[in-house]
Formats: sequence, structure tokens, C-alpha cells
Amino acid sequence: MITKILIATLSMAGISGLLAIILVIAERYLANYGECKITINNQKDLIVKGGSTLLSTLNSQKIFLPSACGGRGTCAYCKCKVIDGVGPLLPTEEPLLNKQEIENQIRLACQVKVKQDMLIEIPEELFNIKEFETRVTLIQDLTHDIKLVRLQLIEPYEIFFKAGQYVQLITAPYAGVKESVSRAYSVASASHEHDHVDLMIRLVPEGICTTWVHNYLNENERVKIIGPMGDFYLRDGEGEIIMVAGGSGMAPIVSLLEKISKEDIERKVTYFFGAVRKKDLFYIDEMRNLENEIGNFTFIPALSAPEPEDNWDGETGLITEPLDRYLSRSDNATSQAYLCGSPGMINACINVFVKHGITRDRIFNDPFA
Ligand code: FES
Repeated sequence: MITKILIATLSMAGISGLLAIILVIAERYLANYGECKITINNQKDLIVKGGSTLLSTLNSQKIFLPSACGGRGTCAYCKCKVIDGVGPLLPTEEPLLNKQEIENQIRLACQVKVKQDMLIEIPEELFNIKEFETRVTLIQDLTHDIKLVRLQLIEPYEIFFKAGQYVQLITAPYAGVKESVSRAYSVASASHEHDHVDLMIRLVPEGICTTWVHNYLNENERVKIIGPMGDFYLRDGEGEIIMVAGGSGMAPIVSLLEKISKEDIERKVTYFFGAVRKKDLFYIDEMRNLENEIGNFTFIPALSAPEPEDNWDGETGLITEPLDRYLSRSDNATSQAYLCGSPGMINACINVFVKHGITRDRIFNDPFA
């Protein structure tokens, strides 16, 4: 009896698997959606070839929706309103959309496909996102696993962005990787410098883009970027600015600090930077220089697991620990928090900020996608 059930179960699973494969093949090779019209904001019509995702179809028309994950359906940045011409919500979209967004016809552009005429709405400011041709003029080791990459703009030759925003870096095919991918990196350079962008890129094991940058990209090569994107930027206010970052999360914070310095913003600024050992710390001299340039700025690096040979006498523990100690003795009534790092670090820090009375509307974050 058990054998029969097992055989029946395996048969069903086999048939389902086979059907799924046939559907994928049919979708790829047989489905021909022909030309489709995408109407944007009831103002602009695009005639496009159907069959690709809305995100890549718009990209091919030089309309760039934000995307931090390169279309893998994890960042939720590519949300846009699809009023007509789309099927039901996909299982890959559901976890990233809340009830209100679903009611408002918000979809993930990287997941829905263009199969018929569509009516969509996107914010006007997204029309300012451009593709830039650049040249690599500097690749520099910041730590054993983080590199600074400077991209000089060629065409267009200027970029205008808000400190804290990011760009998408487009890889070239290399070794066994046959297709280009795009990944988001915060701009580390100052927003008043328009002719280049600096990126800080940490090597992620098996990461397609980071492996390319660390092991294949060379100075003088040409690289494409798309941007600027993102809503992580300095908000108006009078209170203290408390920043927290880890690893390459340093990048947008540097850009924010450069802005604060350049514009002589007279607010108290405190920056907590978390690293594991001393060899993971970088930009210490730059931070000490900024402490001299910005009237009321303190940089607080903390190591979670210093080695004896590090001779570390600074703050220790996870970054939440010195942050917690600091917030318990500061006036947080009007403070704002700016966080960049892993989602785990950001969530842990948000809990600490909220515990000390910094409400969610004063917490801004830029999680790694
Ligand atoms: S680009 Fe769609 S979820 Fe990231």
C-alpha cells in the first residue's frame, strides 16, 4: 500500500515537474506576444516587443526604474502601478507588497511580463535616471575585501545626485558568466562633484558583480552605470544626526558627511561604524579630517571581535551596544537616524533607536539588497 502511495506521489511530482518545464520552454520559444503598447502616465506611448519583464522592457527604452537587486525579486525597489494589461499577482511578488499596495495595483516590474498593451504609472522624477558611460580611473584596496572604484563620467559627462543615493553598476561578461548583470552601489563621492562617482564594493563570495569588480575589472576599462536612484538622503531638521554603518555601508555616509561639511550644516553629527577586527576598519584618516572640518562631528568606530594584536582600546561589541549606551544618555527628541548596512544590522539598530524614543519617521535606512 505504502509503495503504491509512494509511486503515485512520485508520478504526480514527475508530471508536475514535466509540465513546469514544458511551460517554461513554451514561454521562451513558442510564445510570441508581438508588439505591445505601454502607456506611461497617460502621456507617453512606447511600442515594444512583448515577452520580457516590464523592468527590462522599460530599460531597453531608456526608462529606468530603481532596482537594487538586478531584477531578482528581492529588493522591492522596482514597484510601479500597473493599471491595465497584467495578470494576477505572482507568488514572487506577494511577500514584497503590502495590502494597501496590492489594492493600489502596485506590482514589481521585474516580475511581471509585457504580454499585451499595458497602462502604467511611474513617478515623473524617474525620467531623470540616465545611463552613463564611464571609465575606471582608480581601483584601490580599502580593506582585504573592500575596494574603492572611481568611475569618471564620459557620456553624459555630469551627474547630479543627492548625497546618499545609489547607482546601478552593469557588469561585463567574464569567465563563465555570459550575461551582464546590474547591482546597486551607493555613491561615496561628494554630491557637489559631478564628473565622477566613487563606489565601495565588498567582495561577496560567489557574487557575480563583486567577483567581476575584484578579480576582472581593471583601470581604464569602460563601464556603464544607471542612476541616480534611491530615497536615502539628508532630511531637513534641527536635531542631531546619528549615523550607523558597517562595511561598505560606509559609502553613502561619506557622501552625506561631505555634504554636511561643504554646506556648513550646523547640526550635531555622530557616526557609529561597526567592524569585526582592526583589519576591517578603513577611512579612519578621512573621518578624523572630517571631524576637524565639521563643527560638531564625532566618529565612533567599534570592533565586535578585536584580535589581541589589534591593541584596540576603542568601543567593542556589536554596533548596537555602543549605540545603546550613547542613546541612553543623549537627548533624542529631535534626532534623526541614518543607517546603511546589512538588513540584520539595520533592524537591530532600528529597535535600539525606537527604544530610545526616535520614532520610525525619523529613521532612514539603506539596506544592502
Ligand atoms: S528589481 Fe524588482 S525586486 Fe529588485
